[in-house]
Parts: sequence; structure tokens; C-alpha cells
Amino acid sequence: MRQSTQTLPIYQYSHLTVEQQNAIISNGILSGEIATFDGKLLRDFEHRVADLTGRAHALAVDSGSSALRLALRGLGIGHGHEVIIPEVSWVSVGAAADILGATVRVAPVTDTLTPTWDQIAPLITTTTRAVIIAHLRGRPAPGTGDIARHLKERNIALIEDCAQAWGVYVEGRPAGGWGTLATFSTQTFKLIASGEGGAIVGDDADTMALMRAVGCDTREPSPHAMWRWTARMTKLAAGVAIPQLDFLHSLVSNLRELQQQVMEALATQPALTLVPDQTTAIGNGSHVGMRLRSAATAEQLFGALVRGGYRAWWPGPGALHTASTWPVQAAHSLTDLGRYLDVQIPWLPPSEHQGWAAELAAHIGHSLEEAR
Ligand SMILES: Cc1ncc(COP(=O)(O)O)c(C=O)c1O
Repeated sequence: MRQSTQTLPIYQYSHLTVEQQNAIISNGILSGEIATFDGKLLRDFEHRVADLTGRAHALAVDSGSSALRLALRGLGIGHGHEVIIPEVSWVSVGAAADILGATVRVAPVTDTLTPTWDQIAPLITTTTRAVIIAHLRGRPAPGTGDIARHLKERNIALIEDCAQAWGVYVEGRPAGGWGTLATFSTQTFKLIASGEGGAIVGDDADTMALMRAVGCDTREPSPHAMWRWTARMTKLAAGVAIPQLDFLHSLVSNLRELQQQVMEALATQPALTLVPDQTTAIGNGSHVGMRLRSAATAEQLFGALVRGGYRAWWPGPGALHTASTWPVQAAHSLTDLGRYLDVQIPWLPPSEHQGWAAELAAHIGHSLEEAR
């Protein structure tokens, strides 16, 4: 179980001790199969991810970026096709489409950091083949079910980017349960962290087999002669991730408890508005988002939080998560992203929740006073 906060950094989500992680890694090395085409650990990881998301199949891959590229390839997307991505996600989301020769279009986001169907619809053309939406900052993207229904009617694929959404529920389904395909990341900063890694989930056996053949297992037959590459997850990454998947439910309830206390503590702060504007726990509980009165205030508060030892994220100039640093931008913006900021929620024993929330709220209040 959880070690004392003296021995673990408070933002470390893995409940595994160093000894347990060492044992997994040495067993992998001793087995002589560090990277492997199949093997029990990879299959186990895939089954657990499929179960978690309620999908028929999962494919273990080496990163969330690979997962996106392989998903688009599995859907047959390439030259002459258009792919719509959200104005906030990650730089490799558009790259995954561009690398395959598709044209990238960027949908503006609302204050929740995600586009709704209203922002996506005007970008649909006869060559649109896929729309990618991202459940960001551990929160469900509002309007996902609506987007999925509109795209289904038009025979356009939906890919849910769930890199930041392990353990999130979206309109009654686990994140990754709405898209034609959905992708995950197990990179170090994610709730399930194996250093690097990722997964793709879906229901269509042929699409899954094609992606396995193209990116994960060259022994799999492909429907015709085609280029293939390597995007396999290593056995070691799967071994490190599996026990974390077992622990995810318990981690998320812990984070949501503290997240709610932080939201309640910040709700009375007049200089900010919570995003979303509610004081009940949301998503996997990993972040508390807020909008400040100006981008300058958000930047100042961001600096103060980082100096105070908190993990915070501010999508200001230079952030690779926003279209401002990509080769393609949205035609217009609906929100000033620079006014958004969020604080990451650490995994702490419940007895420390109230004190942590109160300290953070005081730190934010004090910093905002100074910024006036
Ligand atoms: C929203 C989003 N999509 C995709 C990715 C890519 O995942 P990876 O770093 O595993 O390639 C990330 C990584 O931070 C992300 O935040």
C-alpha cells in the first residue's frame, strides 16, 4: 500500500515500491524476452485495457503517439483525406495524421478546452475521414456522445484520445468507449505510467488485426503487400503497467476526494472561476482547472504554484499542447487559452487531504492578492 509521503514524491501515482518494480524488471530480463511479439504480460495488459474500456480488443503499443498513428493507418487514412483535431491536445496528434499524408484541420475549443459538435461541424467536408477528440486534464470531453452520433450518421470515424483519461467516465461509459477507436498513453506523467507506452482499443476485429500486423507483429498476415513498422510495447512496460491497472479504481476515488475538497476551497475565491464551474468531483480527479481574469494573472499564478512545489499547467505561449505552436491553427479562437490554468492533484492519504486543500487555497489566495 501507499508509503509515507516522506519516502515518495507526492505526485507519484504508482503504488508499486521500488523493490516491486525491480522484481518486474529483473523477471523480464531473466525471461530473455524484454521486447516480444506476444508473451503473457503483453496479452495480459491488452485484456485488462479492453476490459477497463468495455471494448472487444486492445493492442499494446510503444506510445500514445504511435497509437494515434496506427489507429489512423488502421482506418485507412492517408493522402486525399482530412482529419479534424482539437485546438488543444498534443503536438503529435496532428503529426500522426500529417505523417500519413492526410490534411490536418483544427477545431477551435471552448472554455472547457474541447470542441463540441458546433465547432466540428463547419470543418466537415466530403474528404473528412476522421475526427479526433481528447479527454483532457482527466476530464470527459463535453458532448462526446453527440459528436459520436453525428459522425456515425456521416460514416466518419471518431478517435478518442484518452492519453490523459485513464479511469475517466464519459456520459456513462469508460473513456475510450465512444470512438471507432480510442488511444491511451502510459508515458511517465500519465495515471498509468510505464515510462513510455500506449494502447489502442476498438471492437472491429479486422481493423485491430490490421493494426497488429502493420505496427506490432510482422508475423501476422496482412491483407495485401504493405509497409509495416514497429510500434510494439515492451514486456517490461506491460509488466510495470499491469499492477497499476488493478489499482486504478482505488487511485481515482482517492484523487476525486481531494479534487472535490480543492474545488470547494477555491469556489469562494472571487478572482477565479472553476473549469468546469462546479464543486463536485469530475473525471479521474487528477486536476482542478480554473480561469483567471487575465492571461498575465494566470502566468503569475502559474509561476507562484511551481515555486511553491505544486504541479501546475498553463497553456501559454510555447505550449506544445496548443495549436499556437503547430503548423496548422484554427481559423478563429473562441477562448483565451492563456487565462486557463490547472493544478495537479497528488495521491495522499485521506487524513492529509483537508490540510493539503487548505494550504493550496491559501497559497493561491495569497498569490492572487500579490498579482493585483
Ligand atoms: C492529449 C495527448 N495525446 C497524445 C499524447 C501522446 O502520448 P505519448 O507521449 O505516449 O506519445 C499525449 C502525451 O502527453 C497527450 O497528452
